[in-house]
Amino acid sequence: MTAADSKIWRIIDLIKWGEDYFKSHNIPNARRELEWFLGNILDLKRIDLYLQFEQPLSQAELDTFRSFVLRRIKGEPFQHIIGIAPFYGRDFKVTESVLVPRPETELIIEILKKNGRVGSVLEIGTGSGCIAVTVLLENLADRVIATDVSKSALAIARENAERHKVSQISFRHHDFLQDDISSTFDAVLSNPPYIGVSELSGLQPEVRDHDPRQALTDGADGLTFYRQFARRRALLNEGGCMLLEIGGEHQVPALEKIFQTAGLNLTIHNDLQGIPRVAEIR
Ligand SMILES: C[S@@+](CC[C@H](N)C(=O)[O-])C[C@H]1O[C@@H](n2cnc3c(N)ncnc32)[C@H](O)[C@@H]1O
Repeated sequence: MTAADSKIWRIIDLIKWGEDYFKSHNIPNARRELEWFLGNILDLKRIDLYLQFEQPLSQAELDTFRSFVLRRIKGEPFQHIIGIAPFYGRDFKVTESVLVPRPETELIIEILKKNGRVGSVLEIGTGSGCIAVTVLLENLADRVIATDVSKSALAIARENAERHKVSQISFRHHDFLQDDISSTFDAVLSNPPYIGVSELSGLQPEVRDHDPRQALTDGADGLTFYRQFARRRALLNEGGCMLLEIGGEHQVPALEKIFQTAGLNLTIHNDLQGIPRVAEIR
């Protein structure tokens, strides 16, 4: 597909061409990502792309498609290119200020659902707001306080709450490692920055170069936030729990030590890949 190419490109041609091209650049989920690109450019739902698969693209649409493809093969995540990421079946706005929501984080929502509806939730490090907004849209709590140390992340989270017409969230600018919180909650949720600073260089460039560093690492051994959660047990109402995303098997022994030393019970939940992903603390 070159600039000089005068061929008419239909939706189906671009999906077929792009799938081979992305695969040759080792991009997984090639077809799905192309569907996101074309859906975004043409403002069509996935199903409509196939119902209208013979529709040709205009020159302007082709130029946008070409620029998306070039950015993608240079390593930019597709969610940043289209400015949208899916979470629990809904679309959330994302920018370079927030972590791209990950499917494994949905486990926090699943556990909360299984445990039953609660009154109050505190979310630490809300980023795009995907967890806080989903908690309310799934009717899992009456009200949520969602915090972040990043003001630009909070601005995106507020936009996502508006986008999904959710009004029972109070967003607060707050540093969990420095500032106190005086209220108590039925559930405390967090996907904290848990990557050790020494592990950063081993991350895929897509993650390391595009997600905010403050969202990825605590700048230390990856356990700083868990130590702080263990010290903040008084945040929980009687019978309440913390649901904290974790980095995997390698963190489990250290987490057992941190929470058991603090006299708390720890249950580890695995994600769909069988990887330890959420610590439930009581
Ligand atoms: C891994 S991201 C999680 C974002 C979102 N909750 C999600 O699951 O997609 C961690 C978030 O914690 C925030 N954060 C980092 N340090 C913090 C601190 N000291 N206090 C509060 N939030 C912090 C980051 O800005 C980032 O938005």
